Amino acid sequence: MNSKLGMQIIGTAKQRIKEHQSSNHPILKLLVPALYVLWNTMVTTNRIFVDRNFRSIFLMRLLNAKNVHQTTSLTYLDRYPTIFSACSDYFDGKQDLKILSYGCSTGEEVLTLRRYFPNAQIIGADINKQSLDICRKLPVDEKINFIYSSLNEIRKQGPFDVIFCMAVLQRKPHDTEAKGITSLKKIYPFEKFELQIIEFDELINPQGLLVVHFTQYSIWDTQIASKYEALGDHNQDDYLSPVFDKNSDLIIDPPTQNTIFIKSRK
Ligand SMILES: C[S@@+](CC[C@H](N)C(=O)[O-])C[C@H]1O[C@@H](n2cnc3c(N)ncnc32)[C@H](O)[C@@H]1O
Repeated sequence: MNSKLGMQIIGTAKQRIKEHQSSNHPILKLLVPALYVLWNTMVTTNRIFVDRNFRSIFLMRLLNAKNVHQTTSLTYLDRYPTIFSACSDYFDGKQDLKILSYGCSTGEEVLTLRRYFPNAQIIGADINKQSLDICRKLPVDEKINFIYSSLNEIRKQGPFDVIFCMAVLQRKPHDTEAKGITSLKKIYPFEKFELQIIEFDELINPQGLLVVHFTQYSIWDTQIASKYEALGDHNQDDYLSPVFDKNSDLIIDPPTQNTIFIKSRK
């Protein structure tokens, strides 16, 4: 069966299910939702077997739901040139920096960081094991390591002079926008974001940097905000998805979000 014919059959089946969803017939009322669940289960099971990327995200969410932030692994080289340059300028050639790339995906961010910080020790951490497998095959120098992201593992490597957390502290932002979602409470609550920021705070040296970009929440809403000040006016003007407040509610016309934060000496 060619794929066009397959799509036509699926389309017709979906149309029929929709037509019967409003039916008052008691058997149809039970049967239609049951068929729908069965269909979704079959589609998901099939994708688990044939799509490696889908399988790794599915397993990650199944086995580690509490700790997973963004599920997609989109990344590319030199994605944040202005931000990385500003951080490099801030340290003004200081050597022996220790850097964490939290949510390093398939390693492009770590490779890019090496260009901006030629002598730093760089740790890439990710929760997606398939992405980590790809990272571990990269031709990197001995001062770059990739680790599975758990608080314990990261603690063993810290403290850090900079933590980069780019496009991690969010959940499916494009979906959120497309579906007009006004509360993230059930999808990605503020408390989860805040807990992660508190964990980062414990791992950053005084005068170190916390760099959080492409996120649905603001550092200024968290309990540790008073320990930080913004570095320059680097912000998330390029983040075009909705942002939310500390109640996980949508902010209409949000203020500009900062990106680079300096930890005070306190
Ligand atoms: C959209 S990618 C961002 C990649 C890269 N930082 C960038 O900006 O190009 C999000 C990554 O965050 C990872 N991630 C999600 N939850 C995480 C966690 N708890 N610890 C570490 N990485 C996580 C995902 O597996 C995914 O690789």
